Amino acid sequence: MIIVQYVIIGYIIVQTGVSLLTEFAVNRGNRPKEMFRKTRPLRIAVYVLLAAVPCLGAFLPNSEVKYFFMGSGNIWLGYFLYYSGMLLTASAIAAIVCLIRRDKEKRMFSIIFYISAAAALIITVYGMIHAQNTKVVTYDISTVSEGEQPTDKLKVVLLADLHLSVNSTPSTTEKMVEKVNACEPDVILVAGDIFTSSYGGLKHPEKYSAALSRLEAEYGVYVVSGNHDVEENLFGGFSITTVDKAFRTKEMDKFFEDCGFKMLYDEVVELDGRNVVVAGRKDGEKAGDGTTNRMDEHQLLDGIEPEKLTIVLEHEPMNYAALAENGADIVLAGHTHNGQMFPGNFIVPFFNENAYGVKTISGIPTVVTAGVGYYGAPMRVGTDSEITVVNIEY
Ligand SMILES: [Fe+2]
Repeated sequence: MIIVQYVIIGYIIVQTGVSLLTEFAVNRGNRPKEMFRKTRPLRIAVYVLLAAVPCLGAFLPNSEVKYFFMGSGNIWLGYFLYYSGMLLTASAIAAIVCLIRRDKEKRMFSIIFYISAAAALIITVYGMIHAQNTKVVTYDISTVSEGEQPTDKLKVVLLADLHLSVNSTPSTTEKMVEKVNACEPDVILVAGDIFTSSYGGLKHPEKYSAALSRLEAEYGVYVVSGNHDVEENLFGGFSITTVDKAFRTKEMDKFFEDCGFKMLYDEVVELDGRNVVVAGRKDGEKAGDGTTNRMDEHQLLDGIEPEKLTIVLEHEPMNYAALAENGADIVLAGHTHNGQMFPGNFIVPFFNENAYGVKTISGIPTVVTAGVGYYGAPMRVGTDSEITVVNIEY
């Protein structure tokens, strides 16, 4: 619960600070000061109402009202990120300039306010439209040692982070399914986060499961669950539910069944006649049963014949050294979203050995997809929603 308090205190400090800075900037305009004073209660009401929207989405009991505030709160926080980022940065620079020039009017703060507000709106609209344009990214990978000839190849479509939520639309999922099927994959592997920590917020879940059940691949669709495939409360993108209360629900399991997904919870399957096995891991952060328990790398991969191509599918990209040591030939993952929204794409590499794309780590190729969906704000800025095709020569 300490974490919840920190998140809320941090949120109140940021909202208050940005509101005060906005008020200061608006006050520097040319309008009559009398009018500015008269309209202050109205502006305070707007600041409080906007700040309250994500709180209502997080803390109201499950209902249509909660889901409305969840959806609009996500969009508002996306806008707020860019508005506050630009306002704070430009204001800091302006403060230095005013100090040097001994400028007492400080009118440039008013200009900064209008530019930040308008630019954040343009970025939000662009990010929301761009997030719906799923692109196909292709990687060619070989697991054959130098001097040896490959015996076979496999076309994998790697999907992750669908993040079906209050901000999703079935038509986007339907279009994604069409694009995946057009790739004609041998097998489809989904690296978790089908949901965004809530099943109830999904309008018409049957439309999503109907669309996903139309995914086509000779060997089917294998899926691992992610840290958001549990029912929990989120506030501003932070989980405020402790692990022991975060469970995958019966509705979620039924949804996976309706989609025709073959779920892999620390399980290994063989693709008939292809000399390929897929080992799917439980999520190491939230296993779905109120714990973080999952098989270690040795338990998972023990007993797999070394001549078989061993593909490890997991949600969070990690533990490469241990996986390679225990026989993994390639690791496929998601979770990072490639940062999703600028400047996130420059931040995630600090926390992940492979934050995005293909990288050889511990002697094996690792692939991390940016994911087909979005988390929190339904926006992508500086990154793409993507379907990842991995052609493996082995
Ligand atoms: Fe995710």
